[in-house]
Amino acid sequence: MLLLIKSNCLINLLYNNCLHFFSKHIFRKKFIMRNNDLKGKVVLIAGGGKNLGALLSRNFAAKGAKLAIHYNSEGSKAESEKTLADVQAMGAEAFLFQGDLTKVANVSKFFDMTISKFGGIDIAINTVGMVLKKPFVDTTEEEYDTMSDVNSKAAYFFLQEAGKKVNKNGKICTILTSLLAAYTGLYSTYAGMKAPVEHFTRAASKEFGERGISVTAVAPGPMDTPFFYGQESDDAVAYHKSASALGGLTDIKDIAPLVEFLVTDGWWITGQTIFANGGYTTR
Ligand SMILES: NC(=O)c1ccc[n+]([C@@H]2O[C@H](COP(=O)([O-])OP(=O)(O)OC[C@H]3O[C@@H](n4cnc5c(N)ncnc54)[C@H](OP(=O)(O)O)[C@@H]3O)[C@@H](O)[C@H]2O)c1
Repeated sequence: MLLLIKSNCLINLLYNNCLHFFSKHIFRKKFIMRNNDLKGKVVLIAGGGKNLGALLSRNFAAKGAKLAIHYNSEGSKAESEKTLADVQAMGAEAFLFQGDLTKVANVSKFFDMTISKFGGIDIAINTVGMVLKKPFVDTTEEEYDTMSDVNSKAAYFFLQEAGKKVNKNGKICTILTSLLAAYTGLYSTYAGMKAPVEHFTRAASKEFGERGISVTAVAPGPMDTPFFYGQESDDAVAYHKSASALGGLTDIKDIAPLVEFLVTDGWWITGQTIFANGGYTTR
């Protein structure tokens, strides 16, 4: 009799554990996999008004998403307004938000405004960054602080805000740099301040996974945008062009599809930084 009760208990325990496992992992997984269509999804893009960010805005709009597009400086306003006009011409609902995202209050405001306009956020992408090519011994305290604020602090609080406010089963992606895998000088504050974000990504993915949210980072090679040319001499540009195995600089058109994949069908990749650079650096 005792043996019978014991084996019944064991069966019940196994049954309940299986049920828990299935509901937590299998059912959740199936639900997420069905929801990768971008039509009607709300996509928030920090730095979404120009260069890589603008291409992402346009591509998401073309697939039926609603766009919350951020830009920072007055110098980015005209290009961002053009991006807004273009995505609206494609039929996308969209708005522009201006703000310095090194201030946590502005990051919060951007997320809150998106939720109040669209009712939620499905995908949050952070393309914000600032490059400085300078010898270690010449870098000032002010430059260190600015580089830290833009590349690390803004990225941290963007992830934090996304973790609080992105919908269940949402996706988050941050743009880093392939210099994270380079043995080089002169970019100590740029690569050095992007480096912690790789771990922020890992930690955030572990914590937000419970809500089905995937968190990734993409590390492009030197990209053919004004961001790159501002810091490089002609000789250095020639070197960077020659340094990739596949030849030439990274094109934003090579990066955008990867980001789009990670925040849709590639959702199963989480906690990882993906290097996309034509073989410029590897690890
Ligand atoms: N181009 C490259 O060679 C290269 C290579 C690898 C990785 N990346 C990374 O890729 C991302 C996109 O770069 P991109 O080439 O497309 O150039 P980009 O458009 O100039 O991207 C940088 C963005 O960061 C914004 N930003 C700077 N400071 C900010 C602040 N305090 N608050 C909010 N936003 C701020 C810039 O806005 P404002 O200009 O208005 O300040 C700009 O929108 C960056 O994270 C960059 O680090 C670039």
